[in-house]
Amino acid sequence: MARPVIRYVCQSCGANYAKWSGKCDSCGEWNSITEEAGSSSPVPGGLGKKNVRKGKQIEFVSLEGTSKPVPRMVSKNLEFDRVCGGGLVPGSAVLIGGDPGIGKSTLLTQILAALTNQAGIKCVYISGEEAIDQVRLRARRLGLKGDDFLLASATSVRDIATTLDEHDAPQVVVIDSIQTMFVDSLDSAPGTVSQVRASAQELIQLAKARGFSVLLVGHVTKEGVIAGPKVLEHMVDTVLTFEGERGHHFRILRAVKNRFGPTDEIGVFEMSEQGLEQVSNPSALFLAERRGNVTGAAVFAGLEGTRPVLVEIQALVSPSQQANPRRAVVGWDSGRLAMILAVLEARCGLVLAGNEVYLNVAGGLRIGEPAADMAVAAALISAAMDIPVPEDTVVFGEIGLSGEIRAVNQSESRLKEATKLGFKNAIIPPIRAKKNCNKAASGLDTRQIEHLQDLVALFAAKSVKKTAGG
Ligand code: TYD
Ligand code: MG
Repeated sequence: MARPVIRYVCQSCGANYAKWSGKCDSCGEWNSITEEAGSSSPVPGGLGKKNVRKGKQIEFVSLEGTSKPVPRMVSKNLEFDRVCGGGLVPGSAVLIGGDPGIGKSTLLTQILAALTNQAGIKCVYISGEEAIDQVRLRARRLGLKGDDFLLASATSVRDIATTLDEHDAPQVVVIDSIQTMFVDSLDSAPGTVSQVRASAQELIQLAKARGFSVLLVGHVTKEGVIAGPKVLEHMVDTVLTFEGERGHHFRILRAVKNRFGPTDEIGVFEMSEQGLEQVSNPSALFLAERRGNVTGAAVFAGLEGTRPVLVEIQALVSPSQQANPRRAVVGWDSGRLAMILAVLEARCGLVLAGNEVYLNVAGGLRIGEPAADMAVAAALISAAMDIPVPEDTVVFGEIGLSGEIRAVNQSESRLKEATKLGFKNAIIPPIRAKKNCNKAASGLDTRQIEHLQDLVALFAAKSVKKTAGG
């Protein structure tokens, strides 16, 4: 028999303590440790039972041999399928995190309908957050029909497990959300670390045993990480995040972990009156409101997963009276901005110290690639010198601390995307002889920049022309 024990668990990181304390030693969070009572085995009648004294021998096999290709359930929603690595894998567990109101329930409702209609896959949607009527209302708004998939409102993992174990199990199950689920053998409230962990474990085990794919919706904390223990992310096969800026209508589905496909793939959607629409050409969307020939704006040819995406980077430099002028960044790393400012100052003599500097990635996309360095620098130089970046130009390249421009991966596909969208010029890192990025290959006039100074000189030359020309 499992003995009930009292544990003190940090709600932030999941660390266990024998007694209460005000600060968690493991993650440093204050006031995050709460008492949780429960059996020492988190799974009711589960895991622990099988460990009767001695286990059996496990078998080792060679690396070579034939394995069946992973079967996939394809929704024909290309954006979603791509992020999953080509469709949902039967028996897999997928965790989808995102801010409240971003559209997780909408996305999953649409995906279930697509799976049912396109592939005749049996799906169920279990909501612990909304009443049946609310889910129905959403489905009606999305134009779905009554026979698309089945609905239920439940929060007890025991009830859910019993139901899914008895009927001929559906092939895809959505749990919205894992934070509302509870295992009745634990005393703690739904949403606590131990409840989330136990509920997820139970549901994932059932999914593996029955061969259905389970999609768990996970809340995110205000820091942007999925609420609950980090182990949740380890337990599932795939972690997707659904992100977007409030006030912008497009949303990005991103794979951050995927045992069945590549990570860093993105799917782009646009939230409309009729739900989420797929965006097959994100570059066009991100550049839609761009106006040519303004200062402080550069188009970055970026890469999201395997997909080239063009976005505009905007900078504003304005004089400040303050001792510590403001630096504000949206959509890019503020540490990296500080580094580029330092390099511009130390290596190129472009002093921005007495100025406020604002940087914005237009459209609300978040860029993590160091390849955006040179586009950021171009926007900053353009803003500081009040000279526009040459028209129809894309920029990419990583900047090193000595000001050297470093090559980035997949230059060809970045240039190809720029050509497709009608750009004529590209400012890029030096190309090693073997690679072929010349005009013939990409259709663009490329200018290779070796040092950040050369980029500043490029703008300075234009400024001379501008004053000379009147
Ligand atoms: P929802 O899927 O409920 O978000 P989440 O589950 O992530 O909390 O959707 C949230 C928002 O989306 C809601 O504020 C209304 C908006 N929305 C649309 O704009 N169009 C639509 O067709 C639907 C269904 C929702
Ligand atoms: Mg929801």
